[in-house]
Parts: sequence; structure tokens; C-alpha cells
Amino acid sequence: MAQNKTQYDFRSTLIDKKIVTTMNNGVIILDSELRIHHYNRWLEIHTHIKEKELLGEKLTDIFGEIKEKTLLRKIRTALRMHTPTYYTANTSHYLIPIKINQIENAHFSYMQQDVSIIPFDEQNKLVALILTDQTNMANTNALLAAYVKKIKELNEQLLKEKELTEIQHKQLLANSRSAAMGEMISMIAHQWRQPLSLITTLLANVKIKKELHTLDEKSMDDSFVKIDNTVKYLSETINDFRDYFKPNKVKLEVKLAELFNKSIFFLKDEMTQYNISYSLDIDDNLSVYTYKNELLQSIINIIKNSIDAFKTNDITEKKIGVTVKTLKHHISIIIEDNAGGIEHEIIEKIFEPYFSTKNKNGTGLGLYMCRVIIVEHLQGEISIESQNNGTKVTINLPKKI
Ligand SMILES: Nc1ncnc2c1ncn2[C@@H]1O[C@H](COP(=O)(O)OP(=O)(O)OP(=O)(O)O)[C@@H](O)[C@H]1O
Ligand SMILES: [Mg+2]
Repeated sequence: MAQNKTQYDFRSTLIDKKIVTTMNNGVIILDSELRIHHYNRWLEIHTHIKEKELLGEKLTDIFGEIKEKTLLRKIRTALRMHTPTYYTANTSHYLIPIKINQIENAHFSYMQQDVSIIPFDEQNKLVALILTDQTNMANTNALLAAYVKKIKELNEQLLKEKELTEIQHKQLLANSRSAAMGEMISMIAHQWRQPLSLITTLLANVKIKKELHTLDEKSMDDSFVKIDNTVKYLSETINDFRDYFKPNKVKLEVKLAELFNKSIFFLKDEMTQYNISYSLDIDDNLSVYTYKNELLQSIINIIKNSIDAFKTNDITEKKIGVTVKTLKHHISIIIEDNAGGIEHEIIEKIFEPYFSTKNKNGTGLGLYMCRVIIVEHLQGEISIESQNNGTKVTINLPKKI
């Protein structure tokens, strides 16, 4: 009987059969022809096949999954070299098919196994195959691979979204610049109206005096000096506006009193027209080290918003007040008006691009631009409060960036 002929006699070795039988691994003792000499209890339990049914049988006749050539080569190497070899059971191959609970294991229906081949009884050319359950490890690996894939996908998606917002951001900035350019042109036109009519009047005077033959040299000289000064003023105005439009590439020591006077210079005609009084409370020597024209642009936008608010609200004593205070590391600029304030429902939206309550008269980019400039370029903060029928804009700027 095959059973008697091949069953391994543990008494002839120092190894206790109990150890092999009760090991928490699969153990098969094979000869170099792949015939089974021992099939331990662990395997009996997992495969529901009894050892006695297998003794003397060729392992590959029982389990068709095994790559016979590979296994034989590994066994021979182990015996020849007196060293363990490994039959790598990768994710699709295993030595012995052992069904596992599918609910527990999302990825595999059969136990994943690592197989070590150990020279066992070299005289009788016997090896021990030790099977280790690697399902958990394989499962973890598969899960990890799935996570890595997911993370990669998310990363790619994130990068795409980032690119998109950068493009949108640039587009918005470009839009706001051209919108501001339009506003600038109307400011130039506004600023030029007075001096141009002055020149026309002076020229008309000279012409009339000449026709009436009353033109003396002195009055002609006087008129020409006035015309000359006014033309100078026109060209200065346009230079100022042009500078205002060139975004500063370098940071400068900016005297805040001068900066406010400059912004008021651009807006004072409109303030006079609407009877708005303006006050500035500042220490003349106060300065910040920052991008000058961008700060100027923001301040003009904020004061312009106050002027606009007075146009729709009939208020008796119209006031715009600016207070500049110095803190330890920051300069705090407060611009206040009594033009009616901002309704509670909309105050959260005013920094959003294109939010405006002025229909055709506003682009809604003014405060958005201020926030981009102050927060992103000047590393400061801007906030708006509405109280007691007025609006209070606070800008905090670092003393130096
Ligand atoms: N001082 C203020 N008083 C009352 N409402 C204000 C004031 N400042 C801003 N707002 C409100 O915030 C909105 C958004 O202002 P923002 O400067 O961004 O755009 P806009 O002034 O409407 O348009 P633009 O600046 O292009 O002329 C305004 O439409 C207005 O409703
Ligand atoms: Mg505005």
C-alpha cells in the first residue's frame, strides 16, 4: 500500500511529529518526485482533504494550479544547495487552492500563500514545503495600491482645478484692470474739463482784444503764461494717471500723507460738486514700505465708493474722514463716511467680483481688486463695517513688506 511505503517516519528524525502537525502553517513533506509523505493537520482542516487520501500521491496530480517545472527546480536546488528556496505564490497563483470567506476579503477568493522549500531529510531526498497565509498582507497591498491610485487621481484633479482657478484669477485681474482703465479715462476727461475751458476762454479773450485792437503786450503775455501753466497741468495730470496705471515693480518708502493728497487730487472736483467735506487725520511723517501705486489705486476705489453712495443718498452734511494710526508692526487706515451704510444682507458679498448695486454705473470689481491688492500683494488686511448710517473701511498694512 502506498500509505505504508511513503508515510514519513518521524521517529527516524529529531523532529517531533506533533510540532509539524500542530504548526499554524501548512506543511507538506515531499520527495524529489513530488510524492506526498506528510500532509499536516492545518492543511487537512483548510482543504478538507485527509492526509491518508494523499500519501504516496503526486502533489501536482492533486492540485492542478502548481507550476510543476518551477516547483521541481526549486526542490532540486534546495536539496543540492542544502538551503531553503521559495516558490513565490503571487496574486494569481497559489500552491494549494484554499477557499476563503469573500466577505472578509474584498480582493481574493483563495488564500494567498508564500511557500518555503526546506531540505528536510537529505539522505532520502525529502523536502518540507511550508505554506504561510499571506492573504492579509496581499489584501493590504491591494488596498494600498487602490488608495495610491485614488490619491494620484485626486492629485491630478486638484492640479487641474488649481490651473483653472489661476487662469480665472488672471482673467479677472485683467478684466478689473481694463475696467479701471475705463474709469481712469473718464477721470482724466473729468480732470481736464476745467483747464481746457480755461484755455478756450483765455484764447477767446486774446482774439476779441485783437479784433478790438485793445490787445497790449502785457495782457497777451499774461494770457500766454496762464495758458502755458494750464497746459503743464494737463500734461502732469496725464503723467500722474499713467504712473498710477503702471503697476509698481519695486517697493518704495511711501509717505502716507502725500499718497492721500494725491488720491484726493483725483477725486476733489467730484467731492466739491456733491458738497462733500473731507478730513484727513494723519501724522505727516508716517510712511510704509510698500507698492505705492497699488495702494493708491485701492484708496481711490474706496473713497470713490463713498462719493458714489452720497450720489444716491440725500444727506445734509456729507462727510468722508480718513484716520491713519500707527500700531507696533502695522499701520491702520480707517476710511469712514456717513452716506447711509451698506445693507446687512449684502455686506458679505461686496468683496465678490462683479457684485454691484449700481447697475450700469458699477462693474463690481472695485472692492474685489482692493482685496486682491491689499491681501495678496501688500500682505495686509481689509474689512468693512456698516454702522450708524455710515460705512467704515479698515485697512491694516505691515510697516514693511
Ligand atoms: N461706502 C459705501 N457705502 C455704501 N455702499 C458701499 C460702499 N462701498 C461699497 N458699497 C457697496 O458695495 C458694492 C461693491 O462695491 P465695489 O466697489 O466692489 O463695486 P462698485 O462700486 O459697485 O463698482 P465699481 O467699483 O466698478 O464702480 C457697491 O455696489 C455698493 O453696493
Ligand atoms: Mg466701487
